[in-house]
Amino acid sequence: MKPKVWVTGPVVESELEPLRKIAEVELRHQVAKPSVEEMVRRAPELAGVIPVLGAPVNAEVIAAGRGRLRVVANFAVGYDNIDVPAATAAGIPVTNTPDVLVNATADIAFGLILAAGRRFGEGITAALEQRWHWAQALMLGQEVSGATLGILGMGRIGTAVARRAQGFGMTVLYYSRHRKPEVEFALGCEYVSFDDLLKQSDFLSLHCALTQQTRHILNAEAMAKMKTSAIVVNTGRGGLIDQPALIAAVREKRLAGAGLDVTDPEPPTGPDDPILHTPGIFVLPHIGSASWVARAGMTRVAARNALAVLTGERPPNCLNPEVLDRSAG
Ligand code: DGY
Repeated sequence: MKPKVWVTGPVVESELEPLRKIAEVELRHQVAKPSVEEMVRRAPELAGVIPVLGAPVNAEVIAAGRGRLRVVANFAVGYDNIDVPAATAAGIPVTNTPDVLVNATADIAFGLILAAGRRFGEGITAALEQRWHWAQALMLGQEVSGATLGILGMGRIGTAVARRAQGFGMTVLYYSRHRKPEVEFALGCEYVSFDDLLKQSDFLSLHCALTQQTRHILNAEAMAKMKTSAIVVNTGRGGLIDQPALIAAVREKRLAGAGLDVTDPEPPTGPDDPILHTPGIFVLPHIGSASWVARAGMTRVAARNALAVLTGERPPNCLNPEVLDRSAG
């Protein structure tokens, strides 16, 4: 009997074909994420699960799958939906989908730099409502060309945003857990302290993973160090920002604005959520990786990772390789 793999939401089905050759692949068609209860109910029958964009794999789900579950192949690069230590303790490899969504996400980050800097949100509303007259001071914004871009987290996506910034003649500063001499050399970026990044950036783009250490890394105290003309851009995870503090800072003109592809919570609490109604804050519905190419790539990579584990190979994108080394040793 083929091992069973459950894909928790719609993906690019044609890319699942290689996995289907060795596994019984069941696709859940609902777009809304499964609840923890549904995940727990399904886990005992699964050899593999492909959690789609934030489907929860917490310690309870891992415990329910213990004994049969052999791989959690996340369909996303961010894996804050997965309790990786619990999976590691249970000997289950967890994988993600880096690389394939880098360009798509960096494009959206740069789009948000432009959209928030040049006030697209208010512009679109005024145009739709025909509530504007051309005037010298109509919707003046922050110029992107030649500005200083701060990148928090110089991983693959941060680097791709820095590359785009070169075309706009921007000065690029960064702060990251690890210094990246090769990126500094190739792109002329400068490594600075987190404080200096806050103080000097005209645009601050967030590209670090959401962890216990980075939750609310951009809190009221951090925002207070930024220029009042600065713009915050977030394509990482909403939890990186203390959102009420951001709304207050923009409303009180202690920050010029923000461009957000991700919010906290996600989606926002409802049509009246203040994050959607703060002039200067431009919000997208988490579409960073929503290109045809990236979504096909994410499906292909998630399926390849699951296939590798289920056929006894080393998965290319393992987040807890100690599990593989343990079972090999
Ligand atoms: C990811 O892969 O983590 C992205 O947020 C999905 O859009």
